[in-house]
Amino acid sequence: MDLFRKKSISAMMQQAQTGTALKRTLGTWDLTLLGLGAIIGTGIFVLTGTGAVTAGPGIMISFLISGLACALTALCYAEFATLVPVSGSVYTFAYATLGELIAWIIGWDLILEYLLAVSLVSAGWSGYLQSLLQGLGISLPTALTAAHGAVPGVETWFNLPAFAVVIVITFFVARGVKESARVNNIMVLIKTAVVILFVIVGIGYVKPDNWHNFMPFGLEGVFSAAAITFTAFLGFDAVVAAAEETKNPAKDLPRGIMYSLFICILLYIVVSAIMTGIVPFAEFEGVAHPVSLALQYAGQDWVAGFIDLGAIVGMLTVMLVMLFGQTRIAFAMSRDGLLPSVFSKVHPKFQTPYRATWIIGSVAALLGGIVPLDRLAEMINIGTLTAFVLISLGVIVLRKTQPELPRKFRTPAVPFVPLMSMAVCIFLMTNLSASTWYAFLIWLTIGLSIYFLYSRKRSHLNG
Ligand code: ALA
Repeated sequence: MDLFRKKSISAMMQQAQTGTALKRTLGTWDLTLLGLGAIIGTGIFVLTGTGAVTAGPGIMISFLISGLACALTALCYAEFATLVPVSGSVYTFAYATLGELIAWIIGWDLILEYLLAVSLVSAGWSGYLQSLLQGLGISLPTALTAAHGAVPGVETWFNLPAFAVVIVITFFVARGVKESARVNNIMVLIKTAVVILFVIVGIGYVKPDNWHNFMPFGLEGVFSAAAITFTAFLGFDAVVAAAEETKNPAKDLPRGIMYSLFICILLYIVVSAIMTGIVPFAEFEGVAHPVSLALQYAGQDWVAGFIDLGAIVGMLTVMLVMLFGQTRIAFAMSRDGLLPSVFSKVHPKFQTPYRATWIIGSVAALLGGIVPLDRLAEMINIGTLTAFVLISLGVIVLRKTQPELPRKFRTPAVPFVPLMSMAVCIFLMTNLSASTWYAFLIWLTIGLSIYFLYSRKRSHLNG
């Protein structure tokens, strides 16, 4: 049996041609807004604080590094994901071009990315909900406010709001509620409005003295924070997924990705600069709502309440997109025979992978309840970075082995950009903690065991 057997591209294209073609209506700005809707979430609202504790005010440089890493990988991702003119995820394209084993590893890593991203954002959401409720004089029993071990010195056991919000999101995704472009645009507007409000109000309270100790933990702290904050930029892949509906993919796609990434880099740097300018960075330790905390610190409780509200509303859409993406990757892997058929069973009425959505949603909800937020971020990053390394490598390999493939978008300066992208991703991976590496190796071992014991035999390519 061949580990590198491939799905036939012509069969996939034929399948696409017989299906209904999607209308090409999206331009650069639609894609940019789509990207911002999927990207802005826990990263800006929570990881800015977590990163500040690790890097001090040097978190601004961390965001620059992780943002540039994402921009480089995005350029490779865009070529790879639009290689064949059918819609699908990078898993599908890897299957058609790099073969089954690599496709499996990429799919398995993306499951980690999307599944845990739902849990991560739910934990971030919970922090802001609690901040808002506290402002109204309501507080939950401490044990139910966060995962065990999430807040140093506080006996927390389970993050109930995080669990609950994922269950609600799962209910909607299972019933086929898809986010519309209009809802996305409103969410983006709300999210960016509260961030800009923060900047306008916060800037007057900055004390430059707080920046004097700029890198209290040296470059090491800056790099570890970069490895953690990488998650903050994930979601740009949502832009690529819309390739089939894009008017001019060769132009609009890279612009949409780059604009949304650069807007985020700018927002993250400015917000973290103001946060660390108002509050001495060490005070963010264990804080679940650092952005609104900064305004409370400045005595602007009312504005802080608006930030809480904006974050709560804005983060819902990130969870929706991520859960949707997760179920569709599992769907594709199941349809190819690599995962059990339950993941591709479609509900007769809702036309969605109903049971699979509930299985995946329940796992994400539980993980959001029991795993601390920064642990989730590290796990997401190690899985995603591995997938990105493979994808960047794939761009170089395929230029050599299959130069004739139709490429809607070409990564510039190959092999330089893919090599740089691989180098930066591997560098960020080496800055993650040893325990994250162990956990990831266990995840990979489980994945490979499933592949060799189950998927390889049941793959539809077996005929
Ligand atoms: N980029 C997404 C967020 O920060 C995952 O919430």
